[in-house]
Amino acid sequence: MKSLLAFLSMLVFGIATALYIGFHDNFPSRDRIYDDEQEGLKELVVFKFSHVVAENTPKGLAAKKFAQLVNEKSAGKIKIEVFPNGSLYSDIEEIKALKEGDVQFIAPSTSKLGMLSPDWFVLDLPYAFADYDAVREGLHGKIGDQLFASLQKDRIKGLAYWTNGFKQITSNKGPVKNPDDLKGQTLRIMQSNVIEDQFKLLHAKGRQDSFNSTFQLLESKKVDGEENTISNIYSKKFYNVQNYMTISNHGYLGYAVMTDQTWWNSLPKETKRILSEAMKETTEWNEKHAAKMNKDQLQQIREHSPILIHELTDEERKAWMKRLDPVYDQYKPIIGEHLIQQVRDLQKQHFTSNGQ
Ligand code: LMR
Repeated sequence: MKSLLAFLSMLVFGIATALYIGFHDNFPSRDRIYDDEQEGLKELVVFKFSHVVAENTPKGLAAKKFAQLVNEKSAGKIKIEVFPNGSLYSDIEEIKALKEGDVQFIAPSTSKLGMLSPDWFVLDLPYAFADYDAVREGLHGKIGDQLFASLQKDRIKGLAYWTNGFKQITSNKGPVKNPDDLKGQTLRIMQSNVIEDQFKLLHAKGRQDSFNSTFQLLESKKVDGEENTISNIYSKKFYNVQNYMTISNHGYLGYAVMTDQTWWNSLPKETKRILSEAMKETTEWNEKHAAKMNKDQLQQIREHSPILIHELTDEERKAWMKRLDPVYDQYKPIIGEHLIQQVRDLQKQHFTSNGQ
């Protein structure tokens, strides 16, 4: 009996020692981060940033810029490891990974956040924003505040809004000029019911699928077309497997940069300061460069691809706006009157002041 007791106590001691050593070896950076609270940053810590687009896009370059700024501001003590092209997680998986603490930063397009709160659908409404100024006014104002507040119930912290630009339509079936031209076609769309319902108004079918499956869907002709920003169409070479593109600017595509609230709260003050400063500078940089990237890449497509490009005339755009307008009333009970009204006010101001 005595020797059994001695054996058991040695076993318990052994397990406890192994666990202690194991934890110290496996999670050195986490330990150090907490210890550094008073002393400043001493050891390298690594945070992960996952996104689904290519590097030569407004989001891809912003993520790299953020990593570079954090590195500089922390004198190399904080490393942001960026995983582009969905190499770590797909666009839907990354939200789950954030909540589970497997990744520290993500920047999904806002269209994918309707699954967290229907408030986000407001940004997918057709022709919600006339231009980048209108987007900035909305997201830096009450619309942006309300959307970030809606994340709190999921313990997610919204860090910044990054922009990409306006969506265009590509198709293989024929030129798309009038709202009836998409009739009977299937288009890959982001995971958003508002977008799907917009296409129903055009008698077309929206197939909700991940960004990284789009090229394959187009190439294998499982869908006839898709809608996206120029930078995504360019960097993923959708123009190589599509015959027609319409510059319709019919919807906005931008990003919410997010982190886990509990994780954020646990960070030392100095780390939070560095990350916040770097995020602010990156956001300003992103706002300055996104429009130009989309413009330059459209020029590249024009010069190097046989895809036929049509730009909607004012008259044509008005016809699209009219056809798609019923989705505003359809979603009023879901999104809420207040948010919809904010968009209506911005439309009035920006579509008219630009003579659009
Ligand atoms: C898409 O799924 O088409 C976009 O959300 C991709 C992106 O992140 O820009």
